[in-house]
Amino acid sequence: MKRPILTIAIVATTFFSQAQKKTIDQRVDSVLKLMTLEEKAGQMNQYNGPWAATGPLTNDDKLIDQIKEGKVGSMLNTTGAVRTRDLQQLALQSRLKIPLLFGQDVVHGYRTIFPIPLAEAASWNLEAMERSARIAAIEASAAGVHWTFAPMVDISRDPRWGRVMEGAGEDPFLGSLIAKARVKGFLGKGFGNTDAVMACAKHFAAYGAAIGGRDYNSVDMSLRQLWETYLPPFKAAAEAGAATFMNSFNDLNGIPATGNGYLQREILKGKWNFKGFVVSDWGSVGEMINHGFVKDNKEAAMSAANAGSDMDMESRAYIQNLPQLVKEGKVKLTVVDDAVRRILKKKFEMGLFDDPFKYSSEEREKQQWNNADHLKAERDMAKKSIVLLKNDRQTLPISKQTKTIALIGPFIKAKSDNLGFWSYDWPDDSARIVSVWDGVKSKVGTDTKMLYAKGCNINDTSTAGFAEAIEMAKQADVIVMNVGEARDMSGEAKSKSSIRLPGVQEDLIKAMQATGKPVVVMINAGRPLIFNWVADNVPAILYTWWLGTEAGNAIADVLFGDYNPSAKLPMTFPLTEGQIPIYYNYYNTGRPATSDSDRFYRSAYIDLSLYPKYAFGHGLSYTSFSYSDITLSNSTIKSTEKLIAKMTLTNAGNFDGEETVQLYIRDLFGSVVRPVKELKGFQKVFLKKGESKEVMFTLTVDDLRFYNDKLQYIYEPGDFKLFIGGSSDKTKEADFKLVK
Ligand code: NOJ
Repeated sequence: MKRPILTIAIVATTFFSQAQKKTIDQRVDSVLKLMTLEEKAGQMNQYNGPWAATGPLTNDDKLIDQIKEGKVGSMLNTTGAVRTRDLQQLALQSRLKIPLLFGQDVVHGYRTIFPIPLAEAASWNLEAMERSARIAAIEASAAGVHWTFAPMVDISRDPRWGRVMEGAGEDPFLGSLIAKARVKGFLGKGFGNTDAVMACAKHFAAYGAAIGGRDYNSVDMSLRQLWETYLPPFKAAAEAGAATFMNSFNDLNGIPATGNGYLQREILKGKWNFKGFVVSDWGSVGEMINHGFVKDNKEAAMSAANAGSDMDMESRAYIQNLPQLVKEGKVKLTVVDDAVRRILKKKFEMGLFDDPFKYSSEEREKQQWNNADHLKAERDMAKKSIVLLKNDRQTLPISKQTKTIALIGPFIKAKSDNLGFWSYDWPDDSARIVSVWDGVKSKVGTDTKMLYAKGCNINDTSTAGFAEAIEMAKQADVIVMNVGEARDMSGEAKSKSSIRLPGVQEDLIKAMQATGKPVVVMINAGRPLIFNWVADNVPAILYTWWLGTEAGNAIADVLFGDYNPSAKLPMTFPLTEGQIPIYYNYYNTGRPATSDSDRFYRSAYIDLSLYPKYAFGHGLSYTSFSYSDITLSNSTIKSTEKLIAKMTLTNAGNFDGEETVQLYIRDLFGSVVRPVKELKGFQKVFLKKGESKEVMFTLTVDDLRFYNDKLQYIYEPGDFKLFIGGSSDKTKEADFKLVK
């Protein structure tokens, strides 16, 4: 393809070179001054590229003309050095030669696919998550991507919602730290570096609280709850340098997030002083008509722009209506100018005015296409994400000397099903993705016989493959099964009312268990599933999520004990769907149930246990850790003092291993009721077998703050409990008092 890049680049560079010495704000203003109203609306307009779609398409055969006319400020789903370069050239044919921004959902990797974000969150390993985002940015930026629509920082307490796979789970404290780590990872050494990618904290706000876990649904909650539980990760992302925010599809207390001035103007751009820009979600400007909030696209544009949505993704509402709305005085020119300024500023900060093709380098793209270091990091992240849910009779790890292993289930030889919802299908993926079969094969010696039977499909009713699977199982010393959800069973628009193992997979497990051989079950999924029979009967269970390109190798590392699992659940796993929403940090109520035998006149179901199947923070190791009692530096602290909590952790088992020591507090009496437990700290502690270590946490009054009924972030003197343990439901405790 002919690409007259050089000439155009020189024109663009010269055009702006006089401005070189000015500050970015001055340079932004000098461009803004030259712009017509139509060109301003153009900067606020984002189009999908014609190659892929992540939402319902609005066809536009005039895309190329519109880019040349300066009517497109950004594009999504447009990647590749060549493609982005070609489109950028078109933008440079526009009157003011303002470069395009290319955005993409790089949610858990680009070329190298990392574990889904919920799986990574299970690692509780912030450095590893930062590195995973860094690598995603290096690969995506080499392919021309400037901007990722990640991290998704929605807190959710409802595993029926398919998008829990994209987030960090149910806890605002953990979620905030992970949001920060991911933003930092995407940004790397910061703007100006060609591998820095702009982050986008989404979906602002409270999308994860969609009623009933039904995607896109309404959200109705108190503002206090919003501030306490749903906003903290957004605030953390903004503080960590997220360049953009994406608003959300839901309405919040009756006002669609896209047209919500309280969220976007008052909180984000006001209280938090956020200087980046806000992009709508796909079509969410126009969808306010369906909400019954505005009557047509013109009103939608007016409402969204006035509420602080700076860029319109795929509604065409801004490009078609903003100039007229300004002329009619319905949207102030200052509103448009502010939005355009924010967008241009990012383009300047990214260095695109100086070199619009900066990110579109075929050479870099080629270099990063098969980067072995990235695969190594992916394997490492993946093994850190695997949660050991159960391990009776030390069924795991499996000895590498085992004579015969039967590998059974529809995921044993799976490739793309290891990747997860927000991932790409690259043409050579099947050679690159490591299946469980491949991973185990490269782990065991030639003396180990590996047998395979699929047993059943993921989601149909046929048991025709059971006989073969039983046959294989009977010959084996151990049965290793891989079951779960296909790659597209959790994700956007994948809400489910039943979150059981699909198809006849549980029956297949029963048939394997009936052979009397030791059974290990590995569950691939994008959300907490319900598998009670398995949990109650099978001796060993690993939760293997969707682990990405190196899934099979990471799984083999864990199966054979080369890596001792250390992950902990970032979401509560319910016993049945009837318990949902279920989360560890609930309020106590006036009639709290304290046990399953104490359920009457209590806030409990009469036909259901109080307890989840697996608690937030649960996750075993091949070794066992024992926790000493807690000692506190003082039983009473003043608001100016620090509280130091110490305990001794001992590796009391037979393997070296890493424990995630969790610290929770409870504020016993408050001017508003407080959760029964709130995570306030954690540490990953590695201990050799037999080793002990003192673990120390320091708390200040800032860790005891909460939003009161006036939304003030305060602390109150009074009585507290402090808990330390390896899971939210298994903790030691100590008491302290905060005085003025
Ligand atoms: C809709 C999703 O809600 C959002 O997360 C995503 O970034 C956009 N589509 C673009 O693909």
